[in-house]
Amino acid sequence: MFSSSLVALLPLLSFTPRTLAAPVPLFGINLGEGSEATGNPTPISQSTITDDLLRPALFARTAYCPSSTLTDWSCGAPCNALPGVNVFTAGGDDGEIPFYYVASDPQTQTIVVAHEGTDPENFYSDLNDIKFSQVAINATRFPQAGSNVQVHDGFQETQGRTADTILSTVQSALASTGYTNVLVTGHSLGAAVASLDAAMLKMALPSNIEIGSVVFGLPRVGNQEWADLVGSLLPSFTHVTNQNDPVPRVPPRALSFVQPVGEAHITAVNNSTGDATMEECPGQENEVRAFRRAVV
Ligand SMILES: *[C@@H]1O[C@H](CO)[C@@H](O)[C@H](O)[C@H]1NC(C)=O
Ligand SMILES: *[C@@H]1O[C@H](CO)[C@@H](O)[C@H](O)[C@H]1NC(C)=O
Ligand SMILES: *[C@@H]1O[C@H](CO)[C@@H](O)[C@H](O)[C@H]1NC(C)=O
Repeated sequence: MFSSSLVALLPLLSFTPRTLAAPVPLFGINLGEGSEATGNPTPISQSTITDDLLRPALFARTAYCPSSTLTDWSCGAPCNALPGVNVFTAGGDDGEIPFYYVASDPQTQTIVVAHEGTDPENFYSDLNDIKFSQVAINATRFPQAGSNVQVHDGFQETQGRTADTILSTVQSALASTGYTNVLVTGHSLGAAVASLDAAMLKMALPSNIEIGSVVFGLPRVGNQEWADLVGSLLPSFTHVTNQNDPVPRVPPRALSFVQPVGEAHITAVNNSTGDATMEECPGQENEVRAFRRAVV
């Protein structure tokens, strides 16, 4: 049965590599938070967690299944938690092209796009290898982005490897189902790719198509102009951060990377029930929350 417990997702959402525990310098760079006063976080109800966040988390988890088991939705518990899903395409090689899929979810009448992330160790080594270079966003793929929008080179490259397939599959899936909702999700690297996909889809699809994006453990993807673009294009964009997970704080703000609005923060998880206590953090880079995290 569909449980409101987040227990099953903890392996996905709760990693905090001991050696990287906040708020220590990472790669010799101090991850100092900004100075904006962006308002007090407010509690998120259990029903909102269950209705709006849990299902995207289940889809994000499923993106870690090998694509060979996604085509017929046969990857065991992660797939069984989401009965009735119909997959249009699944692919990736678990390397240069992380696993991804496009599916329909009859229960919510939604086309779902999900991207695999990387395990934490690989995530950090990848980030380290490709440094933190920002490049101009691809003006063909993101025609409404201003010329000052810059994003992480490696994230854009990874998104580019599946972008055309994702766009054409979503277009045909919307046409064949008649649905008008799209959900884009993913975890860590998959969250970065998903947020780029969400912006791309919003620009490419007709305005009656609702693009929802709920992502987990999102690293910083681009500069201030990118963060502003996400906020204006995707009013319901939500990125879930978990306790002291350091991934949402890389690449650092000192290198001009900024998180968009829409942070939903897990402050604690009840070990016996698996229920998460969460709060909504107003603004970009909510300072009140960042301060609490640093002292907790
Ligand atoms: C920009 O995006 C288009 C459409 O996806 C793609 O064909 C092109 O190769 C991309 N340009 C670069 C420099 O990656
Ligand atoms: C965890 O949930 C149980 C059952 O609802 C409750 O009795 C307990 O007090 C909770 N623990 C914490 C630390 O909140
Ligand atoms: C909950 O579980 C985690 C991981 O097993 C453990 O580190 C932590 O101490 C537990 N917290 C409580 C309140 O039991």
